[in-house]
Amino acid sequence: MDTRVFADPDAMSRAALEELLRILRDSMARRSRFAVALSGGQTPARMYSLWAEHYRAQTPWEHVHLFWSDERFVSQSDPLSNYRMTSEALLSRVPIPPGNVHPVPTNLPTPQMAADAYEAELRKFFDGTLPAFDVQLLGLGVEGHTASLFPESPALEEMQRWVAAVRAPAEPPHRLTFTPVVLNSGRNTFFLVAGKNKQQILEAIRSEPDSKPSQYPAGRIRPAGPVIWFLDKAAAG
Ligand code: 6PG
Repeated sequence: MDTRVFADPDAMSRAALEELLRILRDSMARRSRFAVALSGGQTPARMYSLWAEHYRAQTPWEHVHLFWSDERFVSQSDPLSNYRMTSEALLSRVPIPPGNVHPVPTNLPTPQMAADAYEAELRKFFDGTLPAFDVQLLGLGVEGHTASLFPESPALEEMQRWVAAVRAPAEPPHRLTFTPVVLNSGRNTFFLVAGKNKQQILEAIRSEPDSKPSQYPAGRIRPAGPVIWFLDKAAAG
């Protein structure tokens, strides 16, 4: 595991942003679009604010495309919406072209319709090829979930679909999530993990043998490209 430990969530978020911008600068030499899959939860909210406050000027927003690796099936104005959190912390504060923002369409009548529509949007954006996000940001739940892939979720076994409508043992239960088909194709993966309550699950994932599939959803995300675990001291222990 490529693990990097920082004094606090701020230092951790800054390091992740600097790494993201370094990859972005590198990739601009070859491609003009930079696709990022964002995560929800509290940990990245700090990172998104810092992005707007301190890294806004050095980000070529016209090239950056933002997607969400998971979303709650609530309206975009709901306090539980990952889009709303990102919008308040980041989108409303930076000059990203509206066409570069790709939220999950949670305004559709059913979660399955939203999943189908989001998958169609990915197909269009990635020209029918397997989505390979330049950077995907992921979190870690205390029981090992990542995105909205919770332990024992049937979506963990998905081999075809890119976006799944799932029922999560969390509030709100109806969610949309990228499946491992997408998350295992990412070019660069950053896990952002902060807080003492994550110590135990991190230890459990780290001590699993490489030879068997992980019993934790986060441990099942093993793309061929680099995976960096950004931790704060409290989580690292
Ligand atoms: C979500 C997430 C989820 C999150 C973890 C960690 O929408 O809830 O994408 O997978 O990353 O639950 O969240 P915290 O950073 O808040 O601990």
